[in-house]
Amino acid sequence: MAEEKEKRGIWSRRDFFTRLGWGGFGIFGLGTLLAFVRSAFPRVLFQPPSTFKAGFVTDYAVGEVSEKFKQDQRVWIVREETGVYAVFAKCTHLGCTPRWLAAENKFKCPCHGSGFFKSGLHFEGPAPRPLDRFKVIIGGDGQLIVDKSKVFKMGPSGEPDEQYPESILKA
Ligand code: FES
Repeated sequence: MAEEKEKRGIWSRRDFFTRLGWGGFGIFGLGTLLAFVRSAFPRVLFQPPSTFKAGFVTDYAVGEVSEKFKQDQRVWIVREETGVYAVFAKCTHLGCTPRWLAAENKFKCPCHGSGFFKSGLHFEGPAPRPLDRFKVIIGGDGQLIVDKSKVFKMGPSGEPDEQYPESILKA
C-alpha cells in the first residue's frame, strides 16, 4: 500500500482535478463578487457645464475677436456692428484648434493650413465648411451666456451669418 502511494506521488490525478475544480470555482466566485461590488459604484461621467458666462457686451470692442475663452472653453467671442457671436475653435477639417491671426484678420489652422475669415467662413485649405458657432444669449444679470449645447453647425457653402442669422446676438 505504502509502495502504491509512493508510486502515485504527492497528488493523485483525482486530487489534482478536484483541486483544479475548486480553484476554478473559487476564482469564478471571486470574480462575481468583485463585479457585484463594482456595480454598487456606477461610473459617472462628470462633464463640464455646457454654458458659461462671458461678461458684458461692452467688455468687447466692436471688431474684436476675443481669445479670453479659447483656452478653457474653446470659444472665440466676436463682436461686430451687427452683434456678438461665439465661434467654436475647432477646425472643420480634422478638429485641430486654429489660431486667430489678428494682423491677417483670419483664423488659421496649424495642422493642414485651412483659413477662415472672422465670420468663420472657410476660404483656403482642406476644411470643407465654415467654423461652427454656439448660441449666445443675455442672462438675467445682463451678462452674455454662451450655450455650448446649442451648436449652429455650418453647411459647406454660404456665409455663416446667412446660414444662421440667429447665431448673432443683436447687441
Ligand atoms: S485640421 Fe485644420 S486644416 Fe486639417
